[in-house]
Amino acid sequence: MPAQEQADCVGCHEKKTPGIVAQWRSSKHGELEIDCLYCHGAESSDLDAFEHQGATVAVIVSPKDCAECHQDEFDQQKGSHHAKAGQILGSLDNLLGELVGGQPAVNAGCRQCHGSEVRVDDSGRPTADTWPNTGMGRINPDGSRGSCSACHTRHEFSKAQARQPEGCGKCHLGPDHPQIEVWNESKHGVLYHANREKLNLDSDPWRAGQEYFSGPTCASCHMSAAGDQESTHDVGARISWTLRPPVSVKLNMLVFEDHSKQDITGDEPQLPEAGAMLDDGQGGQKKVTRVLTWKDRRSNMQQVCTMCHAGSFVAGAYDQFDQVVLLYNDKFARPAASIIDELHKAGRITAVDFDDPIEWTWWELWHHEGRRARHGASMQGPDYTWWHGMYEVAKHFYEKFIPQVIEVAGEEQAKLLLEKYVYSQPGHLWHRDGYSDEVREKIRQFYQERYKQ
Ligand code: HEC
Ligand code: HEC
Ligand code: HEC
Ligand code: HEC
Ligand code: HEC
Ligand code: HEC
Ligand code: HEC
Ligand code: HEC
Repeated sequence: MPAQEQADCVGCHEKKTPGIVAQWRSSKHGELEIDCLYCHGAESSDLDAFEHQGATVAVIVSPKDCAECHQDEFDQQKGSHHAKAGQILGSLDNLLGELVGGQPAVNAGCRQCHGSEVRVDDSGRPTADTWPNTGMGRINPDGSRGSCSACHTRHEFSKAQARQPEGCGKCHLGPDHPQIEVWNESKHGVLYHANREKLNLDSDPWRAGQEYFSGPTCASCHMSAAGDQESTHDVGARISWTLRPPVSVKLNMLVFEDHSKQDITGDEPQLPEAGAMLDDGQGGQKKVTRVLTWKDRRSNMQQVCTMCHAGSFVAGAYDQFDQVVLLYNDKFARPAASIIDELHKAGRITAVDFDDPIEWTWWELWHHEGRRARHGASMQGPDYTWWHGMYEVAKHFYEKFIPQVIEVAGEEQAKLLLEKYVYSQPGHLWHRDGYSDEVREKIRQFYQERYKQ
């Protein structure tokens, strides 16, 4: 605790903000008398410090502040995709938010999930446009990234609460990443809701198949311990694909001595060995301490599954998942991406994004329904894989995208593009040539037998 005279934080706040004190008292920290100043105490040289009732305090409590007592969790979270979630400035999503929408929607929308860059005024108080904010990759005045209360809501800071899916569902939902909806419709979600009181959420340790055997939550698969695998605060440690970009790729991870991380994409890329020294981009070098290939990451996840399932069952589930990703990638995403690229190069659409209708169609094709299909298949949500996913991909590809290609490129040019990128694949020929007699007859017989029509 910073050496300063003990103001009666609890006594006064008990009257002024009783909710906060009650939460703190019911927490592990309260039980252990880790009081207000352990977290809110500040040095007067801190950018966010101010004088309050005779003490120097800060309202912002960053991951670095928590790290004084929880170094391992801090190191794991550092450099993870969660910690980098605030770095969205260069993305197409951001263009859409800031220019097509407007800054107030970014502050109260995007940045509440991704994290703001918290700025403080001359008095050390955070500014209203960047605060309150518990976005996942929040950029703090002390340079650290993240907000631990994105998952551990204050002032209880409970692990049982963070193990439940609702906290993740604040951000992981909606048209472009419906993980909580997918999980809710999966057998795993069904079993969680049916057996919630049997899950021993307070247990220490909390291992799939041991302390509980039903309804794995987001944390069970992505973070918590399983078998001899320890828990992790890097939610990417068990992920092999990225399902976010227009075309999915495998992700390999380098971990450096200072716990920062770097992605290397691809199925079989050249990877440095642990111990290698790499250029740090600032004239110095940094040492690789660990290399996690996509296969290592997949096997970490499969170890969780096999605490409750047989290996062959899990291999089957992964095969079904991989095949959906490849179908989406090869049949729809690559052809559409190539055509958009050619239309740009030929000047048929402008260099400005989102001013041509076909750009919106392509955007939703990969960013919305294309992700939904992939997310549904990764976490056993069949309705998202098909009706909210591949069905919408196919419908928009054939009924919106292709007609728009013809509109902007003209009949002749469009024909060349479609023959080259679309009809060169047998899976698309039905659209150019119609159904074969054989398929037609099969459909007729089906309706005849089933409905007598
Ligand atoms: C005599 C009463 C009193 C004491 C003692 C006191 N506070 Fe406060 N504190 C308040 C009140 C009232 C507010 C709310 C001010 C407001 O609404 O703007 C507040 C606000 C805060 C805030 C939020 C500031 C902001 O701008 O959002 C923090 C953090 C805080 N107090 C921490 C502490 C800590 C830590 C201590 C012990 C060193 C402490 N307080 C002692 C009355 C007190
Ligand atoms: C384990 C660390 C920890 C302890 C102990 C702690 N706080 Fe906090 N407090 C936080 C965090 C984290 C935030 C959110 C700030 C952020 O997101 O950076 C916060 C925010 C606040 C706020 C502003 C938010 C609001 O809802 O108005 C107040 C006021 C506050 N704390 C008062 C207190 C008081 C009073 C105590 C002691 C009873 C206390 N805190 C103990 C970590 C702590
Ligand atoms: C002064 C040391 C200290 C600080 C600062 C601190 N903690 Fe803790 N925290 C502890 C101790 C001690 C425990 C109990 C032992 C354990 O579970 O690690 C604990 C427990 C926890 C737990 C587990 C609670 C449970 O349900 O069992 C969480 C989560 C947690 N802290 C989060 C945080 C966060 C987030 C911050 C920063 C906002 C923070 N702590 C700041 C010391 C601290
Ligand atoms: C409801 C919370 C939420 C809102 C609002 C939100 N996002 Fe996201 N965003 C997420 C989540 C969660 C992911 C990760 C999804 C996944 O992994 O499938 C994500 C992914 C992204 C990615 C992809 C990152 C990568 O590594 O490929 C970008 C870029 C992005 N968002 C930018 C934005 C912008 C800009 C806005 C506002 C215009 C916005 N987001 C609004 C939660 C949100
Ligand atoms: C993405 C959500 C999320 C974020 C962000 C997060 N945590 Fe956790 N945390 C969890 C979950 C889930 C658990 C329980 C893991 C388990 O089942 O073992 C946990 C457990 C903990 C524990 C208890 C560890 C133990 O072994 O008992 C501590 C301490 C903790 N977190 C601290 C932090 C700190 C510090 C930060 C910020 C650097 C942080 N957490 C950020 C989700 C999160
Ligand atoms: C039964 C285990 C399991 C559960 C439960 C689970 N997931 Fe997943 N999740 C997976 C698997 C498997 C993948 C794909 C891993 C891969 O790429 O190899 C995945 C992928 C993801 C991704 C990456 C998506 C992308 O765009 O790249 C996110 C984000 C995610 N899950 C979040 C969640 C959230 C939030 C929950 C709870 C609502 C959840 N998961 C529940 C197993 C699970
Ligand atoms: C405050 C918003 C928020 C919460 C809460 C949240 N996430 Fe995320 N998550 C994000 C964002 C934003 C991204 C995308 C970051 C990026 O790639 O830039 C993301 C990415 C991920 C990924 C992909 C990681 C990778 O390396 O590819 C997984 C898995 C994930 N989250 C799981 C979880 C789980 C499990 C929880 C709950 C225990 C959770 N998240 C809670 C916002 C959140
Ligand atoms: C905590 C235990 C547990 C974990 C961990 C777990 N599952 Fe399950 N899973 C179950 C249970 C129980 C069922 C329901 C079995 C049934 O249909 O009766 C189930 C069902 C399934 C189903 C059948 C879905 C359906 O609709 O019939 C698949 C596929 C599946 N899990 C895959 C996985 C994969 C892949 C992982 C790891 C990424 C995993 N599970 C992790 C317990 C678990």
